Amino acid sequence: MLKKPISRLKPGMRLAKDVFTDDGRILLLKGFVIKPRYIQRLSAYNVDHVFVEEELVPLKLIDEEVIYEDVFCNIKSVMERARLDKPLDIETLRETVYELVRQILNDDTVFMALTGIRDIDNYTFLHSVDVCIYSVIAAKALNMPLDEIRDLALAAILHDIGKCRIPLEILNKPGKLTDEEYFIMKNHSIYGMEITEQTPELSARIPKIICQHHEKWNGSGYPIGLKDFDIDRMARIISIADVYDALTANRVYRKRYMPHEAAEYLMSQTEQFFDPHILQTFISNIAIYPENLIVMLNTGEVARVLSSRRGLPSMRPIVSVITRKNGPPVLDPYVLDLQKNPTVFIVDIIS
Ligand SMILES: [Fe+2]
Repeated sequence: MLKKPISRLKPGMRLAKDVFTDDGRILLLKGFVIKPRYIQRLSAYNVDHVFVEEELVPLKLIDEEVIYEDVFCNIKSVMERARLDKPLDIETLRETVYELVRQILNDDTVFMALTGIRDIDNYTFLHSVDVCIYSVIAAKALNMPLDEIRDLALAAILHDIGKCRIPLEILNKPGKLTDEEYFIMKNHSIYGMEITEQTPELSARIPKIICQHHEKWNGSGYPIGLKDFDIDRMARIISIADVYDALTANRVYRKRYMPHEAAEYLMSQTEQFFDPHILQTFISNIAIYPENLIVMLNTGEVARVLSSRRGLPSMRPIVSVITRKNGPPVLDPYVLDLQKNPTVFIVDIIS
């Protein structure tokens, strides 16, 4: 067994011990093979070292992980160039986003398990990829045609491109923004429209959608205060995906919401902020626990999700209990249907 600082951790190494957060929650289990996103996750939780086996396991990323990484790298490079006021070069981004759309239309379950990586330095880029994935899954459930889904995916990946004109000290501020900082931050939707309008390769609808992604169903959003169907349908989808992803992310100032908690929050806001029909579709297809997710239960046990049932009740999946918190594996993992056990619920997602 070797002790490895995170800076020297490589994909393909196998964990020799469970990894815990500062407050004692399990982050990754012994036996997991390190993937690039685990390294980002460990850094985000300020873990400085882990114990690994001496032998390296050949790591083969699945297609979905490869495309996730590609889209992430592309949007990062596009946004960094935009910050230097260089014209957007979106050809590579467009190709990878279209490939992402193709894979999601084929099968979206794996992508839901890939979302939710959080790393403070890369927050805006990872958030953009997740908003893109959630928007495409919702559009698929809404039976939108392929050419519209492709435009939606491009608008979603670029929805916060205007943040490249927001000073970094405001953009990366860990706490709440002051009124003045919030006023400056709100300009990002107009900046996003301006930047994408200067990119002739994008369809004319995309700048409009980006401009509207903070408009609200009751007219209380910005920059214009558009209401219900005056807001482009694609902007209505992105706004739900945007809030859902922000809620389910760990932030410095608050712990993340679990998918079922975020769904309840969104539902409580539906009359005011969101298109009710799109929200219902979104929650039925996205706010669920994907198969094989490792979760912590309120009983202190760690469990693996066996099956997720889409639709509202699916927020209480069937799980297999695999280990006690901080303890050894359960010798005979047992199956628990959370739907039938209302006192047991998911309190955290481990990986
Ligand atoms: Fe935004």
